[in-house]
Amino acid sequence: MAQQNIYDNEVFFDSFKGLRSDEINFNEVIETPIITAMLPDMKGKKVLDIGCGMGQHAIQYSKAGAASVLGTDISEKMLGFAKENNAAENITYRRLAFEDIAQLDEKFDIITSSLAFDYSEDFGKLMKDIYVLINDGGYLVFSMSHPISTAYDGVYDRYTRTEDKVRLYANLHNYGIEGVRHFKWVVEDYEVYHRKFSTLINCIAGAGFIIEECQESTVPDEILKKHPDKFGGVIHQPDFIFFRCRKSNR
Ligand SMILES: C[S@@+](CC[C@H](N)C(=O)[O-])C[C@H]1O[C@@H](n2cnc3c(N)ncnc32)[C@H](O)[C@@H]1O
Repeated sequence: MAQQNIYDNEVFFDSFKGLRSDEINFNEVIETPIITAMLPDMKGKKVLDIGCGMGQHAIQYSKAGAASVLGTDISEKMLGFAKENNAAENITYRRLAFEDIAQLDEKFDIITSSLAFDYSEDFGKLMKDIYVLINDGGYLVFSMSHPISTAYDGVYDRYTRTEDKVRLYANLHNYGIEGVRHFKWVVEDYEVYHRKFSTLINCIAGAGFIIEECQESTVPDEILKKHPDKFGGVIHQPDFIFFRCRKSNR
């Protein structure tokens, strides 16, 4: 199975670290507030954060009262940053690709993941593997790139624009063709997997989950007014999609 570990590429890592530590970035302004609002109460819960990266969410969950947080990621560099900057007594960071997540021999009350599942070639298997790792009545809450945003070819502009470059429409490229997409994002050959919305739903439900909530990214008005160039695309196309899924104990 194809596994990409682009975050251990020095140029990519440095660039991502720069973007992620900027106060006004897509993670802090869009992703974190939405996923946080969708999470169940973390107090006393055993949490797994898949694709934890530099640990910003793991420390958030630890501070929110989780009994323990295990953060897993494929990238040594991301985990190195997490261990140095986002450590706490009840957090463990472990190098483990989500393709191998079934190797964990423990169960969790809440499994989360922020913007990591775009890199999964086999999303259906991932959902099934995660289902097994959740206690009855537990939750999977995650974000990933929205299928509209991954329907992109990297060659043409994402938007049709007016003569003075104002975004008019979002362009979709081959929405109906699923699979790997290559485009330039920091590095020339950045890879994510494009899937249709229906595939996401069918993989989640097919694993046995009940979908309790789904959200698409929006940006607060005051941020949009202050940073129209950076966030102006969000009103035309949602960058991220979010799901809160439950393993029923009925
Ligand atoms: C966009 S970053 C998000 C990091 C973190 N969740 C956050 O919100 O800042 C994506 C993360 O997914 C990780 N990742 C990519 N492919 C992976 C894989 N196959 N298994 C585990 N983690 C992976 C990357 O190393 C990276 O840390």
